[in-house]
Amino acid sequence: MSQLLIRGGRPLRGEVAIQGAKNSVLPILAATLLTAGQVEVRNCPRLRDVDASVRILQSLGCQARWEGASLLVDTAGLNGCAISDTLMREMRSSAIFLGAILARCGQAELSYPGGCELGPRPIDLHLNGLRELGAEIDDSGGLLHCRAARLQGRELVLSLPSVGATENLMLAACGAEGVTTICNAAREPEIGDLQDFLNACGGKVSGAGTSAITIEGGRQLHGCAYTVMPDRIAAATYLCAVASAGGEGFLRGAREQHLSTVTAVLREAGCDVRRSAEGIACACRGRPKAVRPVRTAPYPGFPTDAQAVLMAALLRSRGTTVFEENIFENRYRHVDELTRMGADIRVAGRVAVVTGTETLHGTNLRCTDLRGGAALCVAALAAEGQTHVSEIGHIDRGYQDIVGDLRDLGADIARIETEE
Ligand code: UD1
Repeated sequence: MSQLLIRGGRPLRGEVAIQGAKNSVLPILAATLLTAGQVEVRNCPRLRDVDASVRILQSLGCQARWEGASLLVDTAGLNGCAISDTLMREMRSSAIFLGAILARCGQAELSYPGGCELGPRPIDLHLNGLRELGAEIDDSGGLLHCRAARLQGRELVLSLPSVGATENLMLAACGAEGVTTICNAAREPEIGDLQDFLNACGGKVSGAGTSAITIEGGRQLHGCAYTVMPDRIAAATYLCAVASAGGEGFLRGAREQHLSTVTAVLREAGCDVRRSAEGIACACRGRPKAVRPVRTAPYPGFPTDAQAVLMAALLRSRGTTVFEENIFENRYRHVDELTRMGADIRVAGRVAVVTGTETLHGTNLRCTDLRGGAALCVAALAAEGQTHVSEIGHIDRGYQDIVGDLRDLGADIARIETEE
């Protein structure tokens, strides 16, 4: 079993290159199912969730192989339309394959993704939208049987701006006849990346980044070479690492326009954050200051995926900060672990109140989920002594090399093998 060993309490100084975005590459890999010809996904992060997507593509008869930092996908050999329950369980966002398989094959079969460590993970908006495009979906007994002899484009209105539903419907709409408009669409930058990928393959999609996305369906998509955008949540994590430990770091490739709510909070906490054409520089001296309430919201609001790492960065702040988690029900599982380091955090429902303490101490911690796991590392960098972080498989789902990245930033961190 692997663990992380972090020796904290010393400022960072260094530079890290930001990996490709997990939340872009997963829908892009699903979108390769719509193309004829080879797709080269450049700057593709090597992650557990990417491996799971590759296994899904291979189980459907597609080829996928690595060449350096590129993943080459060829879907010509597609010969299946069902995803096994085992593969569905490996990655909760596997529902994103539904729209693409349906568009390509006219049918799809997969198990219901169920809940995850963040709480319930419903896909009702995905299914309602697909039904409106003409799919017949039977979702009895945890299995989804979907059929659509023909998908027909139309106006779809989402009751909330779900990222996954927006992406799934964009993919299905590419295979539909006529024009589809998705209203109240999610506006996350990764949706813009998916739009750019589809257009690079010959699709006609516009409006990503606004709440109305238009897709002209029925175009045969071809292969392309596409570079995935930098991961804004990995960038937020490393900014918070610098804020937590103090010191200075440069995040090569990070785009501040995707991170403005996070950088605004870090500036308020007293960090000096500067953007340049090459990335983002961050310098933080002494203990951070507490900040005004941080409320997670759909983009361009404060990202739920950065809530845990920011909380970790503010554990030693001067004053009290209130967090309000508005996207997922169960997203404070890292709190119990952080309190083991001496943090003062009180949770009531969707609100967490963090009162900064002068010192944190290293101890044994267990990852509870992907971003919560990253938050433990961020906190450990500011803690006196050693911290052991176990169950780091969660972190591997979304960070290509958190040890190498934090070392590049000057942290004392190692991956060690233990008996259990
Ligand atoms: C994506 C991201 C995830 C991020 C989240 C919110 C990927 C692979 N994952 O997840 O990292 O935390 O956006 O920014 O891109 N909902 C419904 N019905 C649905 C779909 C969603 O009620 O059919 C609810 C969810 O329970 C949740 C909220 O909508 O409360 C937002 O979920 P959504 O935007 O769909 O998140 P994901 O696409 O799953």
